[in-house]
Amino acid sequence: MAVAGGSTVSDQTEAAQPHWSSRFAFVMAAIGSAVGLGNLWRFPAEAGANGGGAFVVFYIFCVVLIGLPLLLSETLIGRHGGSSAVESAKTVARDSGVSTGWSALAGVGVLGAFFILSFYSVVAGWVLYYVGVFAGDLVGALGGNLAGGAFAGQDQAAIEALLPALFADPVMLVSLHALFMAVTLFFVARGVSSGIEVVAVWLMPTFFALFLGITVYGAFTGAFAEAVDFLFAFNPERLLHPDVMLSALGQAFFSLSLGSALMITYGAYAGRDTNLAQSSLIIGGADTAVAILAGLCIFPIVFAAGLDAAAGPALMFVSLPVAFQAMPFGSLIGLLFFLMVGFAALTSSVALLEAPSSWLMHRFRVSRGRAAILVAGAAFVAGIFSALGYNLLADVRPLAWWPSFARLDILDSIDTVTGKILLPLSGLLTAIFIGWIADRRLIDAENGLSGGTQLLWRFLVAWLCPIVLTAILVLGIFPGLIG
Ligand code: TRP
Repeated sequence: MAVAGGSTVSDQTEAAQPHWSSRFAFVMAAIGSAVGLGNLWRFPAEAGANGGGAFVVFYIFCVVLIGLPLLLSETLIGRHGGSSAVESAKTVARDSGVSTGWSALAGVGVLGAFFILSFYSVVAGWVLYYVGVFAGDLVGALGGNLAGGAFAGQDQAAIEALLPALFADPVMLVSLHALFMAVTLFFVARGVSSGIEVVAVWLMPTFFALFLGITVYGAFTGAFAEAVDFLFAFNPERLLHPDVMLSALGQAFFSLSLGSALMITYGAYAGRDTNLAQSSLIIGGADTAVAILAGLCIFPIVFAAGLDAAAGPALMFVSLPVAFQAMPFGSLIGLLFFLMVGFAALTSSVALLEAPSSWLMHRFRVSRGRAAILVAGAAFVAGIFSALGYNLLADVRPLAWWPSFARLDILDSIDTVTGKILLPLSGLLTAIFIGWIADRRLIDAENGLSGGTQLLWRFLVAWLCPIVLTAILVLGIFPGLIG
């Protein structure tokens, strides 16, 4: 039987609840879950599509005033309950003498994590593809001119054709999706301290080293000033636009891994000596820093190559490879860049698989290995639809009946419904539960806050979060309401 600090494949029973081997491991794993495709692929795309400055300003507002208080709320539910997200929420409800129906906040989160996992692995598959492309290119460059850019001798159209060619190949897309899901499964099946933690503790520092290197390189060789201007130039007329607000809110939830049961699940593996408030601050701070820096890493390169900032999701997979052609050591930088993205994606996908698997383990008392295989298998099947949405099912518009989302393909529909509805909804329930329903002494004893910060946190969770979340959800989902 597993004990705290060590975990085995049998750590599904409550007595054997696994733990992180240190506070560092907890913080790294949580940062690993937060930092991922959301920061590197989704944030620049959303910022670009929503006009830069206003989006970034509102994004930071959401992170600080809504994200951080909820991050602490989720981790404390987890640590108090010490079980899967749903079970932990039930325990807090029971210990507060209120209905265990409040655990729906975690149920919605588990569902959200599952859907995100399904398309996350598809996008991570594209990353694997580009790792392969740049590795091949680097091998070619080694025989010739390494200091030159990537894709020597090819014209821009050929590089731009890489992504459409990949999208047109359903077998390739699904195979890469399967490969990535299998790697994710491997680590989750090994357990908390010998799988999940190992990935985080090794890959996250590697990620940070690569990331800082490439950002500094981009700052010196790219159009840095233009990027700063784009990301931070304040355009007030866009700021309170419901579309921009909902996008920024959804992005904040997605990026911080909030509303998706994860912070509850990981909080449950944290020891009593972990200061949750402080850890939340570090996790939220690191995630936001990486998102902003990702913008400062990608946009200088994109602007220097004279490409379009509003290219959306194609930014990372089309604009950047084109830009790498013009950069000294382009093949090497390209390979390192996509490897780094792959590492960040893996630490997140491991977390995405852990949250629903942990629920299954506790709910149906199945072993960790079985639970993880079931969830990964189901998410793989669900993800196939997202992958085929680029070729065989290209005409399918799942939300055609919903005016604001009618044009979205399968992957974007799942992404939008989870990011803009499920995650904020889970967040709203969490805020009401922690702010109003749960026993106050229990909460105060768990959160590591005192005095003024305690009051401030309580105000944000009980008042600001519910009001802002409700307003944005209503305005964003039913844009017709305000004409
Ligand atoms: N935060 C992750 C990213 O930025 C995505 C994500 C959302 C996530 N919810 C999650 C990851 C839950 C792990 C668990 O890429």
